[in-house]
Amino acid sequence: MSQSYLVYFILVCIALYLVKRVVVRLRLSKAKHPSLRGHSKWSRRIAGQIPFFAYQESEYFSTDGAPEHIVESRSVAFDTLKKQIQDSSPKTLAHSEPLENSISDVRFTSNYRIPFPYRNQLSKEFKLGSIADQTQGSKIKDLDGNWRYDLSGSYGVNVFGYDFYKDCMAEGMKIAGNLGPVLGAYHPVIAENVEMIKQVSGLDEVSFHMSGTEAVMQAVRLARYHTGKTHLVRLCGAYHGWWDGVQPGIGNNRKTNDVYTLSDLSDNTLGILDSRDDIACVLINPLQAFHPNSDSASDVSLIASDRAANFDKQAYILWLEKIRAVCTKRNIVLIFDEVFTGFRLSYRGAQGFFGIQADLVTYGKTLGGGYPVGVVAGTHKLMKRYKDNKPVDVSFARGTFNSHPYVMGAMNAFLTRVNKPEIQAIYQSSEDVWNNRVSLLNQRLDAAKLPLKIVNMHSILSVIYTRPSRYNWMFQFYLRNAGLELSWTGTGRFIMNLSYTDEEFAEVIDRIVTAAQQMEKDGWWWSSPTLTNKAIKQQFLSDMLSAKFPLLAPFLSKPLSKHSAHVTATSAPISSSEQLNAAPENPIQKAG
Ligand SMILES: Cc1ncc(COP(=O)(O)O)c(C=O)c1O
Repeated sequence: MSQSYLVYFILVCIALYLVKRVVVRLRLSKAKHPSLRGHSKWSRRIAGQIPFFAYQESEYFSTDGAPEHIVESRSVAFDTLKKQIQDSSPKTLAHSEPLENSISDVRFTSNYRIPFPYRNQLSKEFKLGSIADQTQGSKIKDLDGNWRYDLSGSYGVNVFGYDFYKDCMAEGMKIAGNLGPVLGAYHPVIAENVEMIKQVSGLDEVSFHMSGTEAVMQAVRLARYHTGKTHLVRLCGAYHGWWDGVQPGIGNNRKTNDVYTLSDLSDNTLGILDSRDDIACVLINPLQAFHPNSDSASDVSLIASDRAANFDKQAYILWLEKIRAVCTKRNIVLIFDEVFTGFRLSYRGAQGFFGIQADLVTYGKTLGGGYPVGVVAGTHKLMKRYKDNKPVDVSFARGTFNSHPYVMGAMNAFLTRVNKPEIQAIYQSSEDVWNNRVSLLNQRLDAAKLPLKIVNMHSILSVIYTRPSRYNWMFQFYLRNAGLELSWTGTGRFIMNLSYTDEEFAEVIDRIVTAAQQMEKDGWWWSSPTLTNKAIKQQFLSDMLSAKFPLLAPFLSKPLSKHSAHVTATSAPISSSEQLNAAPENPIQKAG
């Protein structure tokens, strides 16, 4: 009898244990964003199943079901634009083309500018140069003498205009030139840098690294070391560099089992932080306030007109305050990844902009004064790399080139300059300045009845397309032709520098409007009642399934089918450059 009680007791304990595990698992699932982005493992698995397919030349311009005269207009416009770009930059193109097969970055970025079904034809015919040889203020010049306004912001490095950085670099060389490339012993200027970074970050101690990615790696490693806990929480959509420890989804083939990707702006996420014992740190990229739970926008994923961004500063402040409180309560290290936002959103970066103090802060990009850099700032307790009572239990981090004298020199020039009244005055007004400029730009777009809206967070802008279209990605080429330099992510992000004058930005507005008017005139934004975002996405899915399972093709719904494309699943392209274009890689989150 008593034996059977014991068996029942054990079974009940096991059942209770299992129920508890299920509840804990369900709770974690609820805190994930419902999109695929919120489910890293699934997104990676599904991405691996997406086949490459390409729209054939004959249907390239009619994949939205446009009538013949629109197709003709697009085709002529395509050739004209191609010719204008080619004729204006022959030397630049001649220098750039061989690089495509020799520099992996160029090969990748030139293939990942636009949605992949269109890229074969476009990248075969429509080359953009990737060479420049001079900058001045907000402008950049190619080898053919074309000066373009820079909207790329050099991935966020350029906060104050290129001349500012050229001066910092020259000054840095003057400061440290006598020492040269000595590593190990520091140039004395490092002491001033450390004091200034401590003041800006509000923290006690600093370490130097060579890139933002490396700074993030070190911050996460320290958080795990000091808390003894295993897991990192990152918020859905946030980019923190290319280390696979912060990129558990698409873009990294390794399975990561120590990262939770949770929803931004979600009480369920707060619940997880408050209830789990395995969370070492929460990593925040404050730029996500611009598009919570979404990747930073890029034209490679612009298959319809459903890009969204919406910056609500007050809502984000409230959210960060809640995160701060739960991290303090649960001994979770709050890391602000300010590699992008540092020294941009305010003098004290996002910490100053949102009024939150983090435990560890990472910086990079602009802080090097034009040179490569990564920095971690933190409390003495968190920055310590050894334990007094366990001498062999260390958290090792070194780097040959950290604290390079030239970087320290240029950083010194940068930090000294940004502390001056002129720059402090720019910081005081920059949020309003950029809100007003974007509002002027939108008034012009509205007045011209163009299907575009610009949204911004401070000096970071994104183009929103307001009319359903499959060809929005063409806009980046019209902008280029109008004398505007974009990064490879296209119209998803314009990173403006704070030295733009009103007159210069007025010229940028003119160029954006002119480019958009031409694109409208050329028929790319043709619309019809059946051309909805939903129909575009259904058609895309149907084309993709047809490429993967050709036998299913006749049974799939094709909402744009009257004129829709015949897709070709491309597995064995002919030429070597086509081969490169057709590699079935997956679009990934990108830097900057
Ligand atoms: C927020 C953030 N963290 C980390 C990184 C990585 O920095 P890096 O490209 O210098 O490695 C970036 C780069 O864009 C970033 O924006």
